[in-house]
Amino acid sequence: MKALVVYGTRYGTATEIAEEITSILKEEGVETDLLDSRGLKEWDVTPYDLVIVGSGIKIGKWTKGARKFLDKNKSALADRKVALFVSCGAANKEESRAEGQEKYLDDVAQKHLINKPVATGLFGSTFDPDSKQGFLYKQVMKSVKKDLEKQGIDVSKPVDCRDWDEIRTWTRALVN
Ligand SMILES: Cc1cc2nc3c(=O)[nH]c(=O)nc-3n(C[C@H](O)[C@H](O)[C@H](O)COP(=O)(O)O)c2cc1C
Repeated sequence: MKALVVYGTRYGTATEIAEEITSILKEEGVETDLLDSRGLKEWDVTPYDLVIVGSGIKIGKWTKGARKFLDKNKSALADRKVALFVSCGAANKEESRAEGQEKYLDDVAQKHLINKPVATGLFGSTFDPDSKQGFLYKQVMKSVKKDLEKQGIDVSKPVDCRDWDEIRTWTRALVN
């Protein structure tokens, strides 16, 4: 079995998830390639049995590169197992997870894939109080910070809302 993991990211959160998925697949004995979708021109997906594509979400959207990857390979992907994942703020709170699942995974699958994905993963985001990112990032992070504080989480240091055990279990289930 051969797998491909492709990700789109703006701040690096989805990269780390894609790296962990790759390392778990390798642990499971699956030959796996990892690709950043940014600036990616062509990539032949036909050698792969399983293709996992994921993205961070910004203002409701996947990255352009990850979306383009799905579109360019739409017909070839219809003949193989495809799994999608996102890293987003909506995953961090129980009350916004259903909306995140629908908008960032189910709608994207419907629009960009011919067949249903074998799995979808709605994974959380991170918060860094000392982030050097720009204005928009800081504005959005103010509300993330408030939400975390409401949950009684200490926001004076970096917070990782990604459930790594969930990500590992999700990945293993793809190949077992
Ligand atoms: C400017 C900005 C806009 C965002 N928009 C959304 C959004 O619309 N929905 C959501 O659930 N999360 C949103 N988030 C949270 C991100 O999806 C989250 O931080 C994610 O982990 C980013 O992934 P990346 O680092 O791989 O780009 C936003 C974050 C930023 C900084």
